[in-house]
Amino acid sequence: MADDQPHDHSHGPHGKRFDPARRHMLFSPERMARFPPAAFLRALAPTPAMRFADLGAGTGYYTLPVLDALAGEGDFVAVDVAPEMLEALRERIASHPHGAKVRLVRSVHGEVPLPDGSVDAAVMGNFLHEVEDPLAYLIDVRRSLAPGGRLLVADWDAPVARAPGEERVGPPDEHRIPLAKAKALLVEAGFSSVTEAPGFREAYLLVARR
Ligand SMILES: C[S@@+](CC[C@H](N)C(=O)[O-])C[C@H]1O[C@@H](n2cnc3c(N)ncnc32)[C@H](O)[C@@H]1O
Repeated sequence: MADDQPHDHSHGPHGKRFDPARRHMLFSPERMARFPPAAFLRALAPTPAMRFADLGAGTGYYTLPVLDALAGEGDFVAVDVAPEMLEALRERIASHPHGAKVRLVRSVHGEVPLPDGSVDAAVMGNFLHEVEDPLAYLIDVRRSLAPGGRLLVADWDAPVARAPGEERVGPPDEHRIPLAKAKALLVEAGFSSVTEAPGFREAYLLVARR
């Protein structure tokens, strides 16, 4: 089943932004197999004092496992540009035992609306490919990280060949940022120790240090 695509080209200033009408797809079993939350958690290794930021949070795919894992510890901020997505996330966490820990922040102009050095670990989950200027955005994320802070980037890799008739999934090929390009952007933005964590399929999970 198609998940992150197709994008609504009438939505957003540059046509790459996820269509909020498709938000129900974001927790599909197919997607959870491709981007396993357990692999993400292993790479994140959350700690009780962690200040965690989910950038392009959508409906909370990457926030909820951390919220569960820390069970009332930690500090959470979820950022999104789309009010519909933030509203859907608000509804989703309303019934979560630790949902009140998550601060929802709208990024009005697509910026990183967080103070300098205020985050220990941030994730950009299936979101780097939607950003208009990925390098400028990564530089802004780095600014928001505390010394030694980490950024995790999960996104679709270059498309793989498909059997005839096999349904294509994910963002359009021309929007994707393949693994090597994502690594190079992180280094160019000033991150160090850029490594790939295992467990994602036709997709990557990168961990980079400020
Ligand atoms: C494909 S969805 C992924 C959502 C979530 N991270 C997940 O993996 O399920 C990408 C999200 O990024 C948001 N987004 C796009 N551009 C953004 C920006 N410049 N700042 C913040 N959020 C943005 C979209 O509204 C959408 O909710």
